[in-house]
Amino acid sequence: MVILLLLVLSSLNSLSSAQSDSLYDNFVQCLAQNNVPNDQISRIVYNPTNPSFTSVLESYIRNRRFNVSTTPKPSIIVTPVEESHVSATVLCAKKLGIQLKIRSGGHDYEGISYVSIVEFVILDMFNFRSINIDMATETAWVGSGALLGELYYRISEKSNVHGFPGGVCPTVGVGGHLSGAGYGNMLRRHGLTVDHVIDAKIVDATGRVLDRKSMGEDLFWAIKGGGGASFGVILAYKIKLVPVPEVVTVFRIEKMMNQNATEAVYQYQTIADKIDNDLFIRVLLQPITRNKIRSVRATFIGLFLGDANRLLSATDSEFPLLGLKKADCKEMSWIYSVLFWSNFDNTTKPEVLLSRTPDSVNFLKRKSDYVKTPISKSDLESLFKKMVEVGKVGMVFNSYGGRMSEIPESETPFPHRAGNIFKIQYSVNWEDEGEEADQNYIQQIREMYSYMAPFVSKNPREAYLNYRDLDIGTTDNGKDSYDQGKVYGVKYFKDNFNRLVKIKTMVDPDNLFRNEQSIPVLPFRGRKVRK
Ligand SMILES: Cc1cc2nc3c(=O)[nH]c(=O)nc-3n(C[C@H](O)[C@H](O)[C@H](O)COP(=O)(O)OP(=O)(O)OC[C@H]3O[C@@H](n4cnc5c(N)ncnc54)[C@H](O)[C@@H]3O)c2cc1C
Ligand SMILES: *[C@@H]1O[C@H](CO)[C@@H](O)[C@H](O)[C@H]1NC(C)=O
Ligand SMILES: *[C@@H]1O[C@H](CO)[C@@H](O)[C@H](O)[C@H]1NC(C)=O
Ligand SMILES: *[C@@H]1O[C@H](CO)[C@@H](O)[C@H](O)[C@H]1NC(C)=O
Repeated sequence: MVILLLLVLSSLNSLSSAQSDSLYDNFVQCLAQNNVPNDQISRIVYNPTNPSFTSVLESYIRNRRFNVSTTPKPSIIVTPVEESHVSATVLCAKKLGIQLKIRSGGHDYEGISYVSIVEFVILDMFNFRSINIDMATETAWVGSGALLGELYYRISEKSNVHGFPGGVCPTVGVGGHLSGAGYGNMLRRHGLTVDHVIDAKIVDATGRVLDRKSMGEDLFWAIKGGGGASFGVILAYKIKLVPVPEVVTVFRIEKMMNQNATEAVYQYQTIADKIDNDLFIRVLLQPITRNKIRSVRATFIGLFLGDANRLLSATDSEFPLLGLKKADCKEMSWIYSVLFWSNFDNTTKPEVLLSRTPDSVNFLKRKSDYVKTPISKSDLESLFKKMVEVGKVGMVFNSYGGRMSEIPESETPFPHRAGNIFKIQYSVNWEDEGEEADQNYIQQIREMYSYMAPFVSKNPREAYLNYRDLDIGTTDNGKDSYDQGKVYGVKYFKDNFNRLVKIKTMVDPDNLFRNEQSIPVLPFRGRKVRK
């Protein structure tokens, strides 16, 4: 009898210790202790044995490199629907000492919102997608899980003379895009998304829900470009809409190397940042094969905030080598220009912007650079030869100047303002699976990047946070590492890095909100002793 009782007791014991070993059970228990009712827990928490786990995980993967069997998977996914769920998740991640990854639209180029080399939980914000527009004040509260296309569509429902200067791809998420500074094709007229953020709601490292007033101006400054994931969980941003004309003009012009592409790209560099601020021109450079000849194609894609006649008078006088003609110009409302820029054909209706699934997802890698002096014609010619030789890597030039040059570098964490002619995005997509293909194409893009060193910014070689690139430095798994953090930190933020570190140390001294490229806390020796 005694033995039987002992057996029962010991099996109960091992059962409960097996339970307490399970992160999932501990996590769920912790959420309950933090006032999340059980029926809600079962609807918002997924462990790997849940039949929906894989589809929830894959719903917002936007780089196939991180959708393979060897990609590390989260132990838990939480999909909060209420602010209190976010607070509880933050507190439980802290209590259990587990890495938290925050995801909104999942467009991070290195997948750091849903991948980690240490055991981790994903806090997936896709339910926080409400968009409330107030035309009386020309402002909107936008949930972090809303997508840019949804925002643009909702604005266009209310007005044909308002817009927002955000990114070009409609499936990008507000949470990552705005917290990483986010720009689009109106940046020469209106600057960045964060130049129009006027309030925010976040959950901080202690689980409190804060707005601009209660978080204070330092933290509010930090989450306008310093990367949300270093400071807290963004619930929503309040933005100011910008005016757009009833008619805007778009164009797309292709030139091959034997059609004076070099001359046109050269001239582009001399006018890109100086021409009428209503004009933004992106140049895509892509190695292609045509008639069995390998060459580089330059595609000039433009948005002009005005009609075709005014556009032509600007390009005729300042950018004649573009060869823009009236027939190339397409006049339309701003919301249709959004569709044009995301490559929909001209029969597509704006409702397509409400779709959350992109047409296709590639294996990809991106890198970035800033150019402050024009690249000479002969250097451009050599560059095009190099692109052909390397193989598959494309480059995208995005013109700067205008409003960008008027805003001081310290206004927001994003420091790449005056003095830049254009930004480069290096881009390689591929469709063949496997480690070998990955290595091949990643090697190609690194080769192009190293070839470009003489032509781009130096000391530091600047980079854009939202074009996430782990090649430029990483703290591995987000350990408390100031020296490692400084390496990529000054590239992304220049002198603003120091202020970001101070704010980080103040609001999250235990470095709960960490990732491969988060803002580090000050080493202990550097901290001020509070009186
Ligand atoms: C197809 C494509 C097109 C793009 N076009 C542009 C463009 O035109 N202009 C431009 O500026 N950029 C562009 N980008 C880059 C894009 O702005 C960044 O990848 C951006 O960070 C994506 O935000 P997300 O919410 O979709 O990504 P996620 O992968 O969800 O998040 C990105 C980062 O932000 C953090 N984060 C996400 N949500 C939150 C939150 N709620 N609170 C705190 N931290 C959070 C994540 O942890 C991660 O570190 C493009 C990317 C892709 C893939
Ligand atoms: C991820 O992989 C799965 C299984 O191979 C596939 O069904 C899904 O479409 C993929 N999703 C993305 C975004 O690559
Ligand atoms: C290239 O430029 C030359 C000299 O400016 C001009 O004569 C020629 O017509 C141009 N070629 C094309 C295809 O535009
Ligand atoms: C749409 O595009 C087609 C082919 O590209 C063109 O023939 C047609 O005129 C365009 N329609 C409008 C309304 O612009």
